[in-house]
Amino acid sequence: ASGVRRGADGALEVAGVDVRDLAREHGTPLYVLDEADFRARARSFRSAFTAAFAGIGTEVDVYYAGKAFLSVAVARWAHEEGLRVDTATGGELAVALRAAVPGADIGLHGNNKSDAELERALDAGVGRIIVDSLTEIDRLAAMVAGRGDGRRAPVMVRVTTGVHAGGHEYIATAHEDQKFGLSIAGGQAMAGLRAVLSHPELELLGVHSHIGSQILDPAGFAEAARKLLVLRADLAAATGHLVAEVDLGGGYGIAYLPGEVPIEPGRVAKDLAGVVGGVCAELGTAVPRISIEPGRAVVGPAMFTLYEVGTVKPVTVDGEPPFTRTYVSVDGGMSDNLRPALYGARYTATLASRPGAADTVLSRVVGKHCESGDILVHDVDLPADVARGDLLAVPATGAYGRSMASNYNHVPRPPVLAVLAGRSRVLVRRETEADLLALDEG
Ligand code: LLP
Repeated sequence: ASGVRRGADGALEVAGVDVRDLAREHGTPLYVLDEADFRARARSFRSAFTAAFAGIGTEVDVYYAGKAFLSVAVARWAHEEGLRVDTATGGELAVALRAAVPGADIGLHGNNKSDAELERALDAGVGRIIVDSLTEIDRLAAMVAGRGDGRRAPVMVRVTTGVHAGGHEYIATAHEDQKFGLSIAGGQAMAGLRAVLSHPELELLGVHSHIGSQILDPAGFAEAARKLLVLRADLAAATGHLVAEVDLGGGYGIAYLPGEVPIEPGRVAKDLAGVVGGVCAELGTAVPRISIEPGRAVVGPAMFTLYEVGTVKPVTVDGEPPFTRTYVSVDGGMSDNLRPALYGARYTATLASRPGAADTVLSRVVGKHCESGDILVHDVDLPADVARGDLLAVPATGAYGRSMASNYNHVPRPPVLAVLAGRSRVLVRRETEADLLALDEG
């Protein structure tokens, strides 16, 4: 997070708060969210895209993708910074509503929305339901008709562009053989758009595509935008209906390791505005309103996880020649950050409670769970004197950390603290053993 520095005695501080004080007061592990950094990243997406697309005479709505991390405060901050909120389930929708985000500023996604989720979205008057199948289109229309309040449901159609982008296979979403969206190449996208137009209960806002996550090469966004614009023009040619909006989804990649270069919102926005303007001119269609849905790039770098070191153990590793790696166990692990185990994601770590020795040793930061794949940081040079009781920080854990946390091994999930201008406050409290036992009916 941008508010992180080393204080006078070499311990980390964030937004003027010493991490040792946070650990003393709240225990560890802890997720620490730099509020000013979150807000600045939210603003930078909004201002970069607004400015770039103003150049081609259109406006942009930025939706914060709550799946990356959502709490009531964070939904409110995003909204205060001029973002809307993208939700993927009834649960995320409930958080956004609790934060008093107006329904009109919320979108609901999902490839398998329940009736209850759709009803809740209609009750809340959400600004868009992103439909993901032909059957959902018919279900939603029937539901709206059944309500009989004369209000149409605003709908975007999620399409699959066939663009390959993003990190791990599990987070790439726009290739054809997966569960999301309606395929352009297969003809289902056009069928879906026509189906929406055929239902008087539905209002067709536009087309949507999300090509994947942790994308560091912006070429994929441009390619997807082109395909969406061509689909839009084809629909207009076939039906006379030119949809007003094109949603380009999220996926903007961040730096996890030193030396990695994140996507820069300003550059992507300029590139994309150029492509959208150019393609619309080629096709002879008016420039649409644009929306985007960044999650990771807003919250990921703004949060880090603070752990306490327990067992430190040198392990001899078979190699040519054999070498020693120091296994540094911390008091959390794959239950608070599943990404390394699930996607092979790489993180780094730094000794947070003191500067440590100048000599370093090759280290691996591991958790406390009962499996050997419980690795948080595969390889990192840590000071040679790291010892029990030290605090370690793992940066850039804001996205898909707490939001994918589990209670594996009956480990309570850590709290989320916000820090701002020398003060901290709890956004989500620590789970307790009592919370977990309360669910167990015996
Ligand atoms: N919009 C839609 C429709 C999405 O499916 C997603 C992410 C986003 C926006 C936000 O993408 P972002 O800007 O955060 O990349 N758990 C995985 C990531 C899954 C992303 C799922 N969809 C991970 O930890 O890498």
